[in-house]
Amino acid sequence: MLTPVLLSGGVGSRLWPVSREAHPKQFQPLAGELSMLQETLRRTSGLEATAPLVVCNEDHRFMVAEQLRQVDLRASALILEPAGRNTAPAVALAALRAVQDDPEALLLVLPADHVIQDVAAFSAAVSHAIPLAQQGRLMTFGVVPASPETGYGYIKCGDALGDELYDLERFVEKPDLDTAKTYVESGSYLWNSGMFLLRADAYLAELGEHNPAMRTACEQAMASAATDMDFVRPDAEAFAACPSDSIDYAVMENTRLGGVVSLDCGWSDVGAWSALWDVHPGDERGNVVQGDVMIDNCDNSYFRSESRLVAATGVENLVVVETADAVLVAERDKVQDVKNIVARLKTEG
Ligand code: GDD
Ligand code: MG
Repeated sequence: MLTPVLLSGGVGSRLWPVSREAHPKQFQPLAGELSMLQETLRRTSGLEATAPLVVCNEDHRFMVAEQLRQVDLRASALILEPAGRNTAPAVALAALRAVQDDPEALLLVLPADHVIQDVAAFSAAVSHAIPLAQQGRLMTFGVVPASPETGYGYIKCGDALGDELYDLERFVEKPDLDTAKTYVESGSYLWNSGMFLLRADAYLAELGEHNPAMRTACEQAMASAATDMDFVRPDAEAFAACPSDSIDYAVMENTRLGGVVSLDCGWSDVGAWSALWDVHPGDERGNVVQGDVMIDNCDNSYFRSESRLVAATGVENLVVVETADAVLVAERDKVQDVKNIVARLKTEG
């Protein structure tokens, strides 16, 4: 059976000041009326699937439970990480939980912070990839790259395995800019969207092969997990011993079992404020405005107000984000550097 696994443990530091450690971006309505976690949950309700597993930090358990309740959805369990160990262990915890109920469980791994405009096309790609995943392929969802983005993984498609289905010849996580440029120019690479469809047992086998210490630590953490209603708490000491790495570096760069399904569904990773232009059309002068904002003679700028009126005149290529306790002003093409501010706030207060 297909089980959606929502990864909801990231911090989203480039979306400061809206995204905070205690209230990260996936819990916020950044792109629409619902939070990105809720949008992702809604998207899974159209699939023929079990209730989702949500993997998140212990500190966020009540926020996740409340957000599920608001959209009238139940999770089959909330797996609570005592501390983040990145995505490879998070998926392993979910896989270990899923095989208890169904040894052939198929996991649809979904980051809780993506925007998908064409949900029907997304669901169709998932259905299309299921047979290969059932055969043990670790399926990625490949998106035609729009630019040499260095924050994404890149996938080289090999032999066709069906219509829009390919062998995964090569997976490269976050290349440098020059490498990314050659990939985009070559026309033979796709972006890795960060969603995966895989059999839980196949993933655990590959993890055991390429990172045995991680698999063992996750197995030990789940073997002595405590269950309290919907909450599953992996053993903290065993999980603390788990190495930290992403599924991309720990498994996908190494596996020989990768597969690719093409995805064309208006996908966007809302990783930085600049992504808001992918999600909202903007006015005729390229401005995107959210909240109580008044603008006059501005171009190509994003303004967001959460607690006060924001007014601007005569500016261009700016990002202005106002919250009750902080205001960000950034040049549009420098928004990736917001993470530097967050790092300084941590050390300088
Ligand atoms: N439960 C849990 N625990 N979730 C986590 C953890 C963790 O320790 N760390 C990250 N996550 C969640 C994040 O909240 C996000 O939803 C998802 O896992 C992916 O993590 P990111 O940190 O956002 O990864 P990325 O964007 O740098 O890279 C991944 O996504 C790109 C596309 O958006 C990779 O898969 C890239 O290859 C891909 O291109
Ligand atoms: Mg991301």
